[in-house]
Amino acid sequence: MKVIRAKTAGFCFGVKRAVDIVYEQLDKHKGKTIYTFGSIIHNEEVVKDLTKKGVIVVRTEEELSKITDGVVIIRSHGVKREIYELLEKAKGVILVDATCPDVRRIHRIVEQESEKETAIIIIGDIIHPEVQGILGWIKGQAMVIKTPEEARKVKLSEDKPVVIVAQTTFNYKKFKELVEILLEKRYDISVLNTICNATRKRQEEAFQIAEQSEAMIVIGDKHSSNTQKLFEICQQACKATYYIQTLADLDLNQLGSVETVGITAGASTPNNIIEEVQNNVRVIF
Ligand code: F3S
Repeated sequence: MKVIRAKTAGFCFGVKRAVDIVYEQLDKHKGKTIYTFGSIIHNEEVVKDLTKKGVIVVRTEEELSKITDGVVIIRSHGVKREIYELLEKAKGVILVDATCPDVRRIHRIVEQESEKETAIIIIGDIIHPEVQGILGWIKGQAMVIKTPEEARKVKLSEDKPVVIVAQTTFNYKKFKELVEILLEKRYDISVLNTICNATRKRQEEAFQIAEQSEAMIVIGDKHSSNTQKLFEICQQACKATYYIQTLADLDLNQLGSVETVGITAGASTPNNIIEEVQNNVRVIF
């Protein structure tokens, strides 16, 4: 009987950096109110702990515009340019940017490319905050697609170059599939695979483990886009894949008498939650 835990399970460097920044700011600015624009990560447990320590989550631009002092932290997903401008105008506000460097890189690419009148195609989920942030750095034509049907329907003027970028956590196989469809069109296309290294490695390892496992457990917040993609990837290789947020969601009886169980977790899943699941799965074997 074997339990295989993915080495890449849990916080990626961008999420770890963002969470560390919030705790550092709490220490550094005792007495000041610390705000995060949106939850710092998609993980209820971490957000609850920060709330206990006094961190306030600001949800809308309207709420943000009313803040006149304190520290405002931008989370790893990044934000559109107007948010920086808004916060820079509020003189009493200290702006702390925890945007993941891999996301900032995409902001710079699309900003520079769109200045040259290049059309930008983002392969990703339009409602995801990271994609909304990227859209906010594009000065000209832009579109977001995530399905083969949407890729087939893309219509752009043929006299302008096109740059394709990806949401950092997009499924690499799907990205390739969509790029192939787009390359069949007669555009001058440059493809920039901006799926981050952490995501690529995590997806590859999850697939390999799922292939060798009779049951696979994917741990992460239900709103976490990268965890949802991990779940899809694992399901392709292992039918008995379970998506859980914490140990409480796992019915250990479901695992029955399997020989090998694989465990992976999204980029915003804290280590203690992964360990708790791993230890309890071990107990039943
Ligand atoms: Fe950054 Fe990739 Fe994590 S973009 S926040 S390292 S999933």
